[in-house]
Amino acid sequence: MNAEPILQISGLHKAYGDSKILRGVDLTVQRGEVIFLIGPSGGGKSTLLRCINFLETPCAGEITFTGERLCHQDNQIYQQVDESRLRMARSKMPMVFQQFNLFSNRTVLENVIEGPVHVLRRPRQEAIAEARVILDKVGLSARLDYYPDQLSGGQRQRVAIARALAMKPELILFDEPTSALDPELVSGVLDTIRQLAQEGMTMIIVTHEMNFARKLADRICFVADGGILESGSPEQLLATPARNSRIASFIQSMQH
Ligand SMILES: Nc1ncnc2c1ncn2[C@@H]1O[C@H](COP(=O)(O)OP(=O)(O)O)[C@@H](O)[C@H]1O
Ligand SMILES: [Mg+2]
Repeated sequence: MNAEPILQISGLHKAYGDSKILRGVDLTVQRGEVIFLIGPSGGGKSTLLRCINFLETPCAGEITFTGERLCHQDNQIYQQVDESRLRMARSKMPMVFQQFNLFSNRTVLENVIEGPVHVLRRPRQEAIAEARVILDKVGLSARLDYYPDQLSGGQRQRVAIARALAMKPELILFDEPTSALDPELVSGVLDTIRQLAQEGMTMIIVTHEMNFARKLADRICFVADGGILESGSPEQLLATPARNSRIASFIQSMQH
């Protein structure tokens, strides 16, 4: 394997005022990898995802995505590319949120074509044709004209995933995609993510679903105190007794 990584992060810092949230995160993701971020609440997982696609502006560090350096340090001064390039990069690494973030006043189909039409400037008819294929794939072809509040949480989240797929993403970022769902709706969303993994989609997934992470992960990163404290294959990281007692007690707490 000599392919260049799809995403390379080094020395990433983020603070809000005086409070340092990320303190020098390094992470390299290869094309096709499925990376899980686990760890205690407040550890910085969401902040890390949001910095990766510049929903938040990092304070320092370097991020290179599909070969394009999006931010770096120049003489210790943080620099990033202009907003239009960030917007294009962001469209290639969409985020799926815990709370779906759909447009409530638009139908399923309209939600899915919004990005292709307005961000990627695709012809509307082409965007509609592609959206139909994607919605069929996530099992929602019978719901094209529904509004989000007419759907279950699991269906809404699958619309959100379809919306991400419609951008022809290089990487999808998931921030606790099943945490807001009733228990019986979780598996449908996890099945969809599993299918994407099988098709080779590169993904970074924040979740508390340990069994899912264990089965699907190429690599699991334990995030706490604003950094990746440890990372490795599921076997390496979740083996009992885990090498790191902090990880071991976190995992045990997840089982209750
Ligand atoms: N917009 C913000 N302003 C100030 N503090 C924030 C903001 N967003 C997150 N934080 C703080 O950053 C820390 C990490 O939060 P977060 O990244 O959401 O952690 P996690 O997703 O792992 O639960 C928390 O202490 C949180 O209060
Ligand atoms: Mg979070």
